[in-house]
Amino acid sequence: MNEQTLLTKFHEIFHKDETNSTRLFFSPGRINLIGEHTDYNGGHVFPCAITYGTYGVARKRNDQLIQLYSLNFEDQGIIQFSLDELDFQKSDGWGNYAKGMIRYLQESTAKLPHGFDLLIEGNIPNGAGLSSSASLEMLVGVIVTEMFDLHSERLDLVKLGQKVENQFIGVNSGIMDQFAIGMGKEDCGILLNCQTLEYEYSPLKLDDYQIIIMNTNKRRELADSKYNERRKECETALERLQQKLSIESLGDLTEEQFEENRHLIGDDILEKRAKHAVYENQRTFKAFKALNNGELNVFGQLMNESHYSLRDDYEVTGTELDALAEAAWEQDGVIGARMTGAGFGGCAIAIVETEKVQAFIEAVGRKYAEQIGYEATFYVASIGDGTKELKLEESR
Ligand code: GLA
Repeated sequence: MNEQTLLTKFHEIFHKDETNSTRLFFSPGRINLIGEHTDYNGGHVFPCAITYGTYGVARKRNDQLIQLYSLNFEDQGIIQFSLDELDFQKSDGWGNYAKGMIRYLQESTAKLPHGFDLLIEGNIPNGAGLSSSASLEMLVGVIVTEMFDLHSERLDLVKLGQKVENQFIGVNSGIMDQFAIGMGKEDCGILLNCQTLEYEYSPLKLDDYQIIIMNTNKRRELADSKYNERRKECETALERLQQKLSIESLGDLTEEQFEENRHLIGDDILEKRAKHAVYENQRTFKAFKALNNGELNVFGQLMNESHYSLRDDYEVTGTELDALAEAAWEQDGVIGARMTGAGFGGCAIAIVETEKVQAFIEAVGRKYAEQIGYEATFYVASIGDGTKELKLEESR
């Protein structure tokens, strides 16, 4: 939907108000190139923001009300609450991500003087593992900061977004999604040290190749207990290693140190989980280096290895993601392919020679549908900026 249609919708749904101006914002989704399930293990990630995401049209109100409306969930109608009622309510559905963000922003700055109306529309499929929820959290964070002239740093908003997931929604996720979405930069990947939050942008020099996003169309719920279970397993493995080693996180270990000490964990499953976290972190460095040296083939090979490890050791891929990755690996002109995000369904990515993209999509699509029984969806990814305000012709 274009910006004029969004504005018209906004005025249809919310009353006219000549005293406050209407503003337009965009918050991206994200893909992770490599470094999966490493963020909450004190490791590195290498994600980027994409040009698919969530648009928000917002306008201040003169009272204390917040009104939210999503064109993706029209059945839910207007979600309404006041600045004094910012508790989680199941019936508020998607509105809880916004509510949590407003609540924590108020707690960390000051009570907002007024509420606001917000219309949103996203073009990232929900539950596809492209972080529609972090996209929404960052959208609301930036809108509130800009509209009410708060002096919150971007990094503070990123941390508040994670706090919403962890404490308001109840998913123990790491910092990667909000960081990629809040700090994204056009045509760049971000290597982020999740322990120290030091980061470095890396221009994605893909020349004759493109990143293809492949959606399994299997709905995955991040709140799914599996995610929290993996996190717990890694914590237990770390505690056992810490009985001998003075390390803060699994991200502190090299592969060699892990191999020398893995017996301390004393449980096959936990060993496999920790092995993934350690090796994946090291792979992320290697991949970052390879990309900067223009060694795209090495990068692709590391992507494939990441998928094997997520499949065999971390066990978060599942039939659908494996079907996509395997079909992708067989195609001509493919440098590498792997699942991206939390797993358990969601999306995979592949780096494909531009000239072969059409044939790739057809062949992988056909194989997937034959094997799984329903269709996958494909998108060509463009790497864009983090959450920001867009210019709006009409301001009232
Ligand atoms: C989800 C979480 C992230 C990260 C990934 C797996 O996207 O929100 O914090 O843990 O899964 O890498």
